[in-house]
Amino acid sequence: LQVLSVASEVYPLIKTGGLADVAGALPGALAAEQVHVRTLLPGYPAVMTALGPHVEALHRWDNLFGGEARLIAGQAAGLDLLAIDAPHLFAREGNPYLASNGTDWPDNAFRFAALGRAAAEIGRGLVPGVTVQVVHAHDWQAGLTLAYLHYGDAPRPGSVFTIHNMAFPGQFPAGLLGALGLPGQAMTVEGIEYFNTISFLKAGLKFADRITTVSPTYAAEIQTPQNGMGFDGLLRARHNVLSGIRNGIDNLAWNPAQDLYIPARYDASDISPRAENKLALQSRLGLKQDPDALLFGVVSRLSDQKGLDLLLTAIPTLIELGGQLAVLGSGSKWYEDGFRNAKAFHPGLIGVQLGYDEGLAHLIQAGCDALLVPSRFEPCGLTQLCALRYGAVPVVARVGGLADTIVDANEMALASGAATGIQFAPVTLDGLQYALRRTADIFRDKDDWVGMIKAGMSTDVSWRRPARTLARLYRDLAGA
Ligand code: ADP
Ligand code: GLC
Repeated sequence: LQVLSVASEVYPLIKTGGLADVAGALPGALAAEQVHVRTLLPGYPAVMTALGPHVEALHRWDNLFGGEARLIAGQAAGLDLLAIDAPHLFAREGNPYLASNGTDWPDNAFRFAALGRAAAEIGRGLVPGVTVQVVHAHDWQAGLTLAYLHYGDAPRPGSVFTIHNMAFPGQFPAGLLGALGLPGQAMTVEGIEYFNTISFLKAGLKFADRITTVSPTYAAEIQTPQNGMGFDGLLRARHNVLSGIRNGIDNLAWNPAQDLYIPARYDASDISPRAENKLALQSRLGLKQDPDALLFGVVSRLSDQKGLDLLLTAIPTLIELGGQLAVLGSGSKWYEDGFRNAKAFHPGLIGVQLGYDEGLAHLIQAGCDALLVPSRFEPCGLTQLCALRYGAVPVVARVGGLADTIVDANEMALASGAATGIQFAPVTLDGLQYALRRTADIFRDKDDWVGMIKAGMSTDVSWRRPARTLARLYRDLAGA
């Protein structure tokens, strides 16, 4: 089965969040299910460099939203890639969505329309040498694929749209409709109209044959007014084609037995080397080197979604409980300042590194005792899955994929050895403080604590099961 995956970021070429991890890992996981995936992405400088000079030009556009463009094919990082070489849209360094002053690129509508346009043309068989039965588009950036397929001529491939995050509707002024090459009827409720604007996300939700999101609980949550961003009615109407398939993680990239980023490697049969990683982490972030402190870790984008304002407020509680905190994050200045101040206020107890750092993300997972994820909403979440694999006990808000992937340490789960972490609800300051206290209590009971670590480490967090489910969905669509 041949599938075209359409994404605006793909690890390890370009990444701002978990979407890149998923788009980067799925092709490998699906290969085991006899699904061959080609990935279409914008030709950002990082992508063009990774592809190198040995690329094949499959197609040319004289005018793709304002300039000449080529569709090129090549291999990089083990992925079979198609990239849109369109310098007028993509030859810009840095973040794929934002200019260096932190605001959206003013022509994002056209940049990601180009992605959708190219995907639709490939899907309809207009690019010689590339045949696919299913087009799978990810998030709003790839959403317009489905509009171009819907309003364009047959033939049409089967289509899947995956919601990684409903918080981004991909909204643009209604006046762009014509320039995007969409017909007037698209600007209606039955089209991609959203509060008098155009929504790229809605194109995916409205016109894909199947909609998936990245956990079963999030699939239910987005059908409610509270989490549906105004799309809950549409999603309820399409509930029979909507499903939640949880994410996995790349078991090779995240393997504590072979991880070159950490000083001491280990597996579930002997977790004692974690102590050395803990000391290394403490020293790296300027924390007191105390093997007995309860060391909490955070690896996160710093945005309102992640609930870290609650954590900033709960820091006195965390410290009272004998805790330390190691934070790696990047994002909004408000949170960066907040954690910087917390570190200055509690020297030796709070360690903070701002920015993106792959190696430190691994060291935190391998060295902290408990990984905190107090998200207000979380479609799936990947860091808690890495934590399970690395023997860091996840302490998570009971929302979305966090609710689906962690077994809360309630009395019976502890007694039966099933518990893998701590969940809390509601996602409030009280809720988080209560979770910190429960964590500290269990941490003091070494049998329970080690039992949780071992149960977590033996949980299958890989792509094996989700890839099988997704492959089945593709085959249904393709009638294969
Ligand atoms: P989201 O996509 O909402 O950011 P996920 O948990 O799905 O959340 O994915 C986040 C991914 O980004 C994980 O792979 C995590 O390890 C990584 N990550 C987040 N922040 C950083 C950072 N500052 N440095 C390195 N990796 C990070
Ligand atoms: C989004 C979500 C996150 C999810 C990731 C990959 O960024 O915020 O929960 O894990 O996409 O699907």
